[in-house]
Amino acid sequence: AIDISSLRAKTGFVTLDSGYKNTGATTSAITFLDGEEGILHYRGYPIEQLAENSSFIEVAYLLIYGELPSQAQLDGFSSQLSQHSRLPQGLENILAGFPANAHPMGILSALVSSLTAFYPESVEPNQTKEQIALNITRLIAQISTIAAWVYKHGRGEQLIQPKANLDYCSNFLHMMFSTPEQDYEINPVVVDALNKLLILHADHEQNCSTSTVRLVGSSQASLYSSISAGINALWGPLHGGANQEVIEMLEAIKQDGGNSEKWLEKAKDKNDPFRLMGFGHRVYKNFDPRAKIIKAACDNILNNLGVNDPTLNIAKELEQAALQDSYFVDRKLYPNVDFYSGIIYKAIGLPNEMFTVMFAIGRMPGWIAQWKELRENKEPIGRPRQIYTGQSVRDYTPINNRN
Ligand code: ACO
Repeated sequence: AIDISSLRAKTGFVTLDSGYKNTGATTSAITFLDGEEGILHYRGYPIEQLAENSSFIEVAYLLIYGELPSQAQLDGFSSQLSQHSRLPQGLENILAGFPANAHPMGILSALVSSLTAFYPESVEPNQTKEQIALNITRLIAQISTIAAWVYKHGRGEQLIQPKANLDYCSNFLHMMFSTPEQDYEINPVVVDALNKLLILHADHEQNCSTSTVRLVGSSQASLYSSISAGINALWGPLHGGANQEVIEMLEAIKQDGGNSEKWLEKAKDKNDPFRLMGFGHRVYKNFDPRAKIIKAACDNILNNLGVNDPTLNIAKELEQAALQDSYFVDRKLYPNVDFYSGIIYKAIGLPNEMFTVMFAIGRMPGWIAQWKELRENKEPIGRPRQIYTGQSVRDYTPINNRN
């Protein structure tokens, strides 16, 4: 029999870093993040300035192509997006086959993956810059149509085609909320809020879903396949799925009489699997700058829309109580981007199960930029090592001799 120690010796030195807490997987020129100071920049521009002044499509261009667009470039990009926002007919048929009560994230990832079937040239590893740019444009344009149609499908409502004369966020709202009988009245407050939220979600360097996109892309898998994988990674409740969990938690606290203290105690109890959703972050050990912006936007948007949502007060109370509680203070647990975003999504009429889909639309430019960077840098295939802890070598036992 071979001794396992000899097997170990042959692997050489391997660094074990479960959860990649201290392992850099790549160099990147896209997003700068300082978790101690609570700083986030896209291509060098502070997130606060972009959220205040920019549109989601301008930020998408910045992330993907590296510079803020000129007016002509922005107009060109926007018109390309309009041109490509209609979905292939076959995709509508696939959507029709999904059960109406399926979670939208599962359908979203399946439909994005299916784009490889409609645009087969996208799976070629050696594409020109122009071909890659076309696939990118299609994906940003079509993700918003897919998302809105998944929503309509779930409600059994007629699908609404995109309109060429609407900007990206207005078009999404139109496809979500118009009916064949009546066009949704575009509210600039809602469009503004949506632009802000999508900008704040647009990239966040090597998080779970982005690292997934890069890892899958490193095998030279297509843009659509890589991003479909990222959507699945995002869905988990410890990542993007937290935004749905937050609103469900806030609603449960409301039902429970609004007793924030009781729920904080539950989150601290190590025998209880419950965690305070929307709190804590692997990298931010101070505050999440996105949460600060969203919290401020929340008050404004709810006021402007005339919405009085008690879950906003519960969220604020929870935050206040946590900031004074040594459990959260010692562990440097602060609200993250997901803590307040759901309250805005809810105020603009989105149901809970669409929140993570909104995150996916927002994160799309970041995933694309990271996939493109990986290709341009000709990074090697990702292949982590392991420390084997299983059985030493042993002889096969015939089935009749097993206990
Ligand atoms: N509620 C209660 N306790 C928490 C929470 C929380 N939300 N988050 C972390 N802790 C505790 C842990 O129990 C652990 O305590 P211990 O040291 O006594 O064992 C300590 O804080 C450190 O937590 P880890 O899980 O080791 O931190 P990690 O960096 O692995 O996890 C994560 C980060 C997943 C975000 C975590 O804070 C969490 O589960 N938060 C809730 C889910 C959430 O909001 N996710 C969204 C993240 S942002 C995003 O993806 C967009």
